[in-house]
Amino acid sequence: MMKDYYIDCSFKSREGLCFTDRKVELEKLLKLCEKGYHTPIVVYGPEGCGKTTLLNYLRHILSRSKEFVVVYVDALQESVQEALKIVPEIDRREIMKMLESLARMDIREILVRVYDIVHILITKLKLSKKKLVILIDDVYKCLGLENVDKYTKMLYELIGWKFRRELMLDSVLVLLTTSEGVSKRELLKHTYVNVYMLWNMSHNGFKLLYEQLRPEISFEDAWILTGGNPRALLELYEDNWNVDKYVRRILQKVSVIIEDLPKDRLRRLVEDPDSDVELARVLEDRGLMIRLLRGELCLSEEPSPDRELGIGEKWAWKIPAYRLAIEKLCR
Ligand SMILES: Nc1ncnc2c1ncn2[C@@H]1O[C@H](COP(=O)(O)OP(=O)(O)OP(=O)(O)O)[C@@H](O)[C@H]1O
Ligand SMILES: [Mg+2]
Repeated sequence: MMKDYYIDCSFKSREGLCFTDRKVELEKLLKLCEKGYHTPIVVYGPEGCGKTTLLNYLRHILSRSKEFVVVYVDALQESVQEALKIVPEIDRREIMKMLESLARMDIREILVRVYDIVHILITKLKLSKKKLVILIDDVYKCLGLENVDKYTKMLYELIGWKFRRELMLDSVLVLLTTSEGVSKRELLKHTYVNVYMLWNMSHNGFKLLYEQLRPEISFEDAWILTGGNPRALLELYEDNWNVDKYVRRILQKVSVIIEDLPKDRLRRLVEDPDSDVELARVLEDRGLMIRLLRGELCLSEEPSPDRELGIGEKWAWKIPAYRLAIEKLCR
């Protein structure tokens, strides 16, 4: 159905870029939307790898079909008007009128009362027999890490009992995103949720994104610094493709993050990301490394181990520039 290297200008990202790549992920996600899933699904991935963009694009694609009701919540927005987006598209004021009692709430309450929102929509718009997709972006940043278990379990209960039985929906999928290593580790312990990893973009897909930015550095240079992370590429673009400036900024940031950590152990992690789980976990919590999920748990094409890109079997640097910075700082 989709071309191998996918680009769709009917959807533009916040920065005005055409939606690019993610064919593998979209095929899996669309299948899940179609059939529903009995547990919530949490998509975990490096900061800036494109989780929010993918979730918004999914909503865009689903809005083309009459089969779906989509409730999208951007949990980091201040106001309900900004945070809540609904498919089928109805007039914004109309939704607010329908959800009058909720409009005055803050986003936390909206998240907790997601059942009420769905209930109002389904009954007022007579939408039973549809497929329900709930998309919540950055949920745990909003609710706090202490609520990760409780909230996810509540969603699980809603899927099994309330959504399917009371509202007579055809299928239900609840998809959440997080870039917090701690929340992912917590959730992996439980059977009432499934965690999937979204990795940075594929080599060929990333090239299509790079070409949209009228680049002034070679593609290989961009790839070797960013490893396919779109936000990192946008930072290079903002720095007017001045690689030295970009690298200096990363060096300054990383030097603060690692100043209390042992240099010899960091050096070993630079050589082999799998060499020190204990330190890798510390670096995951500080935003520099990530525990990879492979096989069934990887939504993207699995990243191949690659020393230069800082990818091991189990652990990876979130972007290669972090690994390069630590290599320099620990010399
Ligand atoms: N598939 C894509 N096509 C085009 N641009 C993209 C794509 N994915 C990401 N981008 C660009 O990269 C930027 C960063 O991506 P995004 O905000 O979606 O990442 P994220 O994983 O949600 O980050 P965070 O972990 O901070 O929430 C976007 O604003 C967008 O411009
Ligand atoms: Mg995001």
